[in-house]
Amino acid sequence: MPLAGNGGYTVRRYTLDFDWRAPRTPFAAGATVEATATQALSRFDLDFAGNTLHRVTVDGARAAAERAGDELVITPARPIPRGSAFTVRVDYTADPTLRRHRDDAIQDYGWTPTPDGTVICAQPDGARLVFPANDHPSLRAPVTFRITTPAGLSAVANGRLVGTHRRPDGRVRWTYDSEEPIAAQLVQMAIGKFTFVDSSGPRGLPVRDVVPDGLVSDTEEYRSLTREHLAWLERRLGPYPFRRYGVLVGDTDQPVALETQSLSVVPKDDLLGDRVDAERNLVHELTHHWTGDSIALRRWSDLWLSEGHARFYERLYSEEHGGVSLESAMRAAYEQHDRWRHDDGAPAEPTEATLFRAMRYDGSALVLYALREQVGSRAFDRIERAWVTAYRGRAAGTGDFVALASRIAGEDLRPFLTPWLYGSRTPPMPGHPDWQVDPVED
Ligand code: TRP
Ligand code: ZN
Repeated sequence: MPLAGNGGYTVRRYTLDFDWRAPRTPFAAGATVEATATQALSRFDLDFAGNTLHRVTVDGARAAAERAGDELVITPARPIPRGSAFTVRVDYTADPTLRRHRDDAIQDYGWTPTPDGTVICAQPDGARLVFPANDHPSLRAPVTFRITTPAGLSAVANGRLVGTHRRPDGRVRWTYDSEEPIAAQLVQMAIGKFTFVDSSGPRGLPVRDVVPDGLVSDTEEYRSLTREHLAWLERRLGPYPFRRYGVLVGDTDQPVALETQSLSVVPKDDLLGDRVDAERNLVHELTHHWTGDSIALRRWSDLWLSEGHARFYERLYSEEHGGVSLESAMRAAYEQHDRWRHDDGAPAEPTEATLFRAMRYDGSALVLYALREQVGSRAFDRIERAWVTAYRGRAAGTGDFVALASRIAGEDLRPFLTPWLYGSRTPPMPGHPDWQVDPVED
């Protein structure tokens, strides 16, 4: 995805204004992007798609703005000197029906409509349908959200509710602060008739679920497991890396959950069905907060690190809580692995079209399983702890993981991991000489 993100500047903060009206109804929006030039800029880009663009200013002066595909090309009235701070303001009419489609696990993403409002599921490149962004998974900045809703509706976003302000016309402005820098793909902004359900996790961690009014009691049973999920994951991966957590129950037909930072969106159907499945999904999104959110992806090709870990711990948890054994799931994945290599690309070699296919999930959990079989579970656990500790709050890629694993295990793991991650044939599984890969013909 070579056009994702832009060079020449770093974003210090986004401030997003949304003047929400009604479902599927265009509304006034604006983004203030505070940035610092890392080179002299006569021109620069933001990622932005769809919506109706009205006006762009740079440091208050009208700037020329042209759209080319997903790029918003901005030419300020005067060039920006290298090293200087500048502020871009983009005013637009937002279109909350904008979505994109992918032919994989995700299907539709972007603005995700609900009966009363919206949730956002931006991953991988849908943030640009919501606001002008430097939309690359490795690039993060804090976000302030200022969302105005009609009386009777609530707004929620990543991080902390700073305050609400009722205006003379009865509309309410909700201000949220992401508290931590966030990649555009992990932004959440939701509107609905919500109940906020407060609880706490380990060491008093604030937990706030955001639940459509009619779904509070029906989803209570599984939502209340978050406390246990946090404790279980902390035993393996160390302290939860953000200042709060919560589950946003999606009143949508969207079939999958998403790890939007500090507030995972989980579709209501996941919370109304089978307990084993519900816990798998909840633990999956929570695990992403260590791997995928706290450790950002260096580039999309590194997605296996995010989804592979989320699937690995989801299965490890499930094995201890009434689900199938990790070993049987991994054996099944092993049988499929050449097929997935062929159809989806090797774990660390997706294409845009195969990014969220099975190889990035069980196929990548299998790579971690193979590593555990190779180095032993004690060394593996030390690698995992070291990984989430060393790269907390940073971006990291496949090479970083292989190097760190080698250092912790005290052996060069490149010869072992390279064929697993990049090869066209599945290597033998250490400790399981009887495991067989189904043949692929074509
Ligand atoms: N990362 C999600 C998961 O936890 C899957 C996903 C990617 C997704 N993009 C999405 C889900 C968009 C909903 C909408 O596996
Ligand atoms: Zn995931």
